[in-house]
Amino acid sequence: MRSVLVIFTYFSICPFTFSQENPITYYGKIESIIFKNCMPCHSPGQSGPFSLLTFEDVAKRGDFIGHVTKSGYMPPWKADREFQQYKNERVLTADEIEAIQDWLKNGMPKGKKDKKVDQSKFRFEKPDVTLKMKNPYLIPTSNKDDYRFFHIPTNLREDKYLSKIEFIPGNKRLVHHCRLMTDTTHMVHAIDGMSADDPRISAFEKYPPLDKFLYGWVPGNSAIEFPSGTGKKIHKDTDIIINIHYAPNSRESQYDKSVINLYFTEKKADREVYSLAIAEDDISNPPFLISAGEKKTFYSSFGPIPIDISVIGVLPHMHYIGKTFRAFAATPEGDVIPLIKIDDWDFKWQETYLFKKLQIIPKNSVILIEATFDNTAGNPANPNSPPKDITYGWNTTSEMLDLVLYYLEYQEGDETKTHD
Ligand code: HEC
Repeated sequence: MRSVLVIFTYFSICPFTFSQENPITYYGKIESIIFKNCMPCHSPGQSGPFSLLTFEDVAKRGDFIGHVTKSGYMPPWKADREFQQYKNERVLTADEIEAIQDWLKNGMPKGKKDKKVDQSKFRFEKPDVTLKMKNPYLIPTSNKDDYRFFHIPTNLREDKYLSKIEFIPGNKRLVHHCRLMTDTTHMVHAIDGMSADDPRISAFEKYPPLDKFLYGWVPGNSAIEFPSGTGKKIHKDTDIIINIHYAPNSRESQYDKSVINLYFTEKKADREVYSLAIAEDDISNPPFLISAGEKKTFYSSFGPIPIDISVIGVLPHMHYIGKTFRAFAATPEGDVIPLIKIDDWDFKWQETYLFKKLQIIPKNSVILIEATFDNTAGNPANPNSPPKDITYGWNTTSEMLDLVLYYLEYQEGDETKTHD
């Protein structure tokens, strides 16, 4: 009798019993939080180091998940949400963080799978075309970065519009970033497997890519999806030229066979998506040199923009010593259109930020960027110890200050259009 009483007392004073009546279960609440915010990266082939698809996957790492969600480390999201709102925001609400904590305290009850809940909406759609590198690429063992071009024909029989595009690195450890371009001249196939340092590369400059920036993949970046009714045009028989940057490889026999997934619009897109890259030439206070031990701010400006545009999203890009990044458009009337603000840049988490609502940039506006860099020894992200002078370049140990915009030609009514 006494022991029963003890147990009873224990339960009634135990703070966890408050939620005993209606405990949060995996199937009741946790699964949908994980599926929405974690699964896009934590599933096979994606960037996360393990899958979070099942109850077992999640329960096995319960404490770890509780820790990274409480600290805000996961899901990674760097953009300031007061400055601008994005469609692909991945942020847990205070309530969701709390729910995970409660679930853990209660011993991670599984609950009942509700058959009415349609899990299929969480599943990935199947790509229309999956393109692979022709051959696995053997990444040389070397202490240098390796930049390679690959040539991948699409063999498309007709013009298509991309509604979504995704790059899946074959070697997640060494694929550092990549850029996809398109070519319709068919004069560039010999570039396949060539190093960016190869003198023969200059021969291809005669055939500038049709689309210099179809899509860029950087760590953390997921697929990009364009609003319904819009698409990025790919001409029939387009060849994709992909420029992959491999990080230095210290181990032998490391291969890469990366994959590109294309998803097409069902019918011809009503509106075409274009991309614009603001890069080195647009820096307004050159030379782009950050001396060893120095902190420095650079500005870029692009414009005046010749037509009214409706911007779908932006991809900011810097390397390791980048600290903050802010971009906005200034209109001729003196209004400011916020694009992106990141206060704690982290090379590891880069993203194409897709606006919740199309951002209209009127004709004659200028796009302005301000970015700070910290090349001191006190910056733990500094790739050089002791610090070295850093200039603009593609190597990870160099720096970049780029912004890519995906946009449409403005149409009346875009002001109220959301990205769906
Ligand atoms: C944008 C992609 C992305 C999203 C979204 C994401 N993760 Fe991750 N996660 C990663 C990558 C990549 C790593 C490995 C690199 C690292 O640990 O920094 C990782 C690491 C982790 C780790 C291990 C951390 C460590 O220190 O080793 C845990 C636990 C984790 N994620 C849980 C989650 C949970 C829970 C969510 C959702 C609430 C989530 N992740 C959302 C990409 C993602």
